[in-house]
Parts: sequence; C-alpha cells; structure tokens
Amino acid sequence: MVSVAQEEIDSNEKVALTGSLPDFSQYDIVFLVYPVWWGTIPNAVRTVLQSDDLSRIALYTLITHGGSGAGNSVEDIKAICKAEVSDMALEVFDDDVTDAASEVADWLYKIQKER
Ligand SMILES: Cc1cc2nc3c(=O)[nH]c(=O)nc-3n(C[C@H](O)[C@H](O)[C@H](O)COP(=O)(O)O)c2cc1C
Repeated sequence: MVSVAQEEIDSNEKVALTGSLPDFSQYDIVFLVYPVWWGTIPNAVRTVLQSDDLSRIALYTLITHGGSGAGNSVEDIKAICKAEVSDMALEVFDDDVTDAASEVADWLYKIQKER
C-alpha cells in the first residue's frame, strides 16, 4: 500500500473513486479530513478536489499524520483547487485520533468564532 501510494503520487496518477461525490455547490463550508501520505494528500483526495469548481467554498482541513504533521499538503491543496483554504488546519497524530474528540470540538468552536 505504501509503495503503491508513492507510485501514484510520483506519477501524478488520477485515482478513480469508488463512491459518488456530493454536489459541492450546495455548500459554503467543507471540512476535508485526510491522512498525510508521503508528505502530501492521497491522490484520491486530489481527485475529489479536482472534481468540481470549489471557488465559492471555505475549506477547513483536518489532517491525520504519523509524525510529520501536515507536510506540504495544505500548500498542495491551495495549488490544485480554488477554494478559500483556511490556515486554521488541525493536525492530529494517528495514535491520538481516538482521543481527539475534544480537540476537534475546540477547533470547530474556534472556526465558528472566526466566522
Ligand atoms: C502510503 C502512506 C504514506 C504515509 N506517509 C506519511 C507521511 O509522509 N508523514 C506522516 O506523518 N505519516 C505518513 N503516513 C501515516 C499516515 O498519515 C497515518 O497512518 C494516518 O494519518 C492515520 O490515519 P488512517 O488510520 O485513516 O490511515 C503514511 C501512511 C501511508 C499508508
């Protein structure tokens, strides 16, 4: 899995999704939750971001990782879609995911206050 993901990322392969996507035009705010893979977003997430015109959307990123933090993922998202990508990214270490509910709630509260 790790090497397949690296090949996908290195070759910029467009990965097909197995499910259907929502109609993003129905939303003003989107929370994008993804794991960092090789310092960036998984290619399937890239497919999601390129599937629609996200230019009217405020995008908040919740990022799980195994120690590197967000890596280049937020910059990469900004480069590939037109959403207004917030700098208030939340990074959660993978071992802490199951205990992160209050951290996520605090993050959502801060976002609500900011808006
Ligand atoms: C293909 C692959 C690449 C990864 N690359 C990174 C990385 O560059 N930096 C990092 O901190 N963690 C990396 N990880 C660890 C994942 O970010 C971590 O396991 C994940 O966020 C946990 O969420 P999950 O249980 O939904 O996979 C990688 C994991 C995989 C499978």
